[in-house]
Amino acid sequence: MTKLNMNKPGLVKKISLTILLSLLAVGAQAQFRADADTVLITGSNRGIGFELAKQYAEAGWNVIATARRKSDDPELADLRAVQSAHPNLVIERIDVADTKSIKAVAEKYKNQPIDVLINNAARVEQSFQADMAIVSKPYSEIDFDDAALDFSINTLGPMRMVQAFMPQVMASKQKKIVNVTSFIGSFGYGPPAAIGMNYGASKAALNMYSMKLSVQVKDKGVIVALVEPVMVQSKPGVKDIPMSSPADVEIKKLRKVIADLTMQQTGKITNFTTGKTDPY
Ligand SMILES: NC(=O)c1ccc[n+]([C@@H]2O[C@H](COP(=O)([O-])OP(=O)(O)OC[C@H]3O[C@@H](n4cnc5c(N)ncnc54)[C@H](OP(=O)(O)O)[C@@H]3O)[C@@H](O)[C@H]2O)c1
Repeated sequence: MTKLNMNKPGLVKKISLTILLSLLAVGAQAQFRADADTVLITGSNRGIGFELAKQYAEAGWNVIATARRKSDDPELADLRAVQSAHPNLVIERIDVADTKSIKAVAEKYKNQPIDVLINNAARVEQSFQADMAIVSKPYSEIDFDDAALDFSINTLGPMRMVQAFMPQVMASKQKKIVNVTSFIGSFGYGPPAAIGMNYGASKAALNMYSMKLSVQVKDKGVIVALVEPVMVQSKPGVKDIPMSSPADVEIKKLRKVIADLTMQQTGKITNFTTGKTDPY
């Protein structure tokens, strides 16, 4: 058997460097395992984002659960409870409309490979009724100055995240970016619907950005997937919709879709309720 000769300075230097690099990789969060895959999720204090954070944490992933709220906000209570049970989940503050907040977290985790970056956050309300009140407004009642924020959060937010975290995604094994879109922003999903002018337009623009991004990073091995459900019971009021389905069931399906992603799906929309490719 060959014995390691620790007297060789070159070898010692090499081993120390390897140890240092693995320590740096997990250094941003001491509870992270170097051998576990890592996911970062935006808007993870409630709804789909919360369920994703919870399920990935339970599955033993390193989870960077981000929310735009301050660390002592009562709205983070559910996420903190998951963190108490699963220290492999860390909570970071990111407002996807605020480049500075994104860059600060990207800098903190600059040595942490991120296998899956999930751009989930969107400018939506706390209840289905409140969402419907907003998306039902006709063009004549929309404040188009305020509408700029829909685009800043739903469209440019994911792109700001992509720009800041691409090095960490490229340094990972899986190299997956997952942008959550909606059929309300689709040109081909079904008969044209009048509702959701801003929301729909912002998601349609997200689809376009994602498709173009997928082409730009294909040769780097990065998959850019768009995903959408039929209807997830992510908030009060959705349960009453006949085709809706519980969040835990739908997010289990979404995690399977993400796990199975290949270059075949890059730039395309996968409906995680049906498992099929949806039209733009
Ligand atoms: N539920 C569905 O059936 C359905 C259908 C189609 C598409 N989607 C898409 O799925 C995603 C999640 O929807 P959901 O139903 O889970 O919504 P949700 O329960 O209302 O959650 C939205 C999340 O986005 C966060 N957020 C809003 N603005 C933000 C910002 N500037 N920076 C960071 N986070 C921000 C919210 O945080 P706060 O608590 O701070 O507001 C919240 O955590 C969205 O992209 C939505 O368009 C959902």
